[in-house]
Amino acid sequence: MKTIIDPSEMQAAALEWRARGLRVGFVPTMGFLHRGHTSLMDRARALCDVLVVSIFVNPLQFGPNEDLDRYPRDPEGDAAKCAAHGTDLLFMPTALYPPGHTTRVAVGTLGEGLCGADRPTHFEGVTTVVARLFGIVQPHVSVFGEKDYQQLAIIRRMTRDLAIPVEVVGGALVRDHDGVALSSRNKYLTQAERLRARTLSGGLRTVQAAVEGGERIVQTLLALGRSSIDADHLQYLEIRSADDLTPLVTLDRPARVFAAARYGSTRLIDNMALPDPT
Ligand code: PAF
Repeated sequence: MKTIIDPSEMQAAALEWRARGLRVGFVPTMGFLHRGHTSLMDRARALCDVLVVSIFVNPLQFGPNEDLDRYPRDPEGDAAKCAAHGTDLLFMPTALYPPGHTTRVAVGTLGEGLCGADRPTHFEGVTTVVARLFGIVQPHVSVFGEKDYQQLAIIRRMTRDLAIPVEVVGGALVRDHDGVALSSRNKYLTQAERLRARTLSGGLRTVQAAVEGGERIVQTLLALGRSSIDADHLQYLEIRSADDLTPLVTLDRPARVFAAARYGSTRLIDNMALPDPT
């Protein structure tokens, strides 16, 4: 596995692969990799000839009071995991944006609810970095985790709206043995918080089970979910359509249930597909 730090060198390598007719696969990350990330690499590996993984903690997607400085890092461990999961090239820029960069990719309504409500500048930071990474890495296909389902929907919309020729593929969310969705932020949870954090996925499962049992009224489903989540602050629990994230009143199309909650100073998100009601 080769490592490149310089964006121009990365782009030159990608253009050369493309000129040779090779299919480029890409998994962008912010590092501190876990099984959720390596499952995205495995997914991408099967879809391409050359696999690029990037590690860049993107300041643009952190708000002023968020955890940019304490975001966990493990460059050596990350490199070993990338190599073990078939990565050909690890792109680890120290500086990704050119001096004086001002362009931002505006997200629109898809970024307004759910995580966008508490993190108003977050998704614009994500689209801006992903657009730039796509320009540098020149992928044919790129895999994003369903754990960040709203992010995945926004990136799909961005590539469609801006006619960016990248196939965006969703990779399944990976859970730990206790049902907690894998996240780099889980390491901040105390033992007691971790025990309570299990109720977040538990609440989503309660909603799933109620749909299986025939319930279709969203308010009723959410009340059931809320009553089984134990969090310091439940930021949101919502049911939205799976394709364009429209809030629903009755379950009348494929949908997902989404939640964000704080445990101590750690903010966790989770989501699950609901059984098809049609
Ligand atoms: O999901 C992430 O880790 C980040 O939001 C991404 C897509 C790598 C952009 O910085």
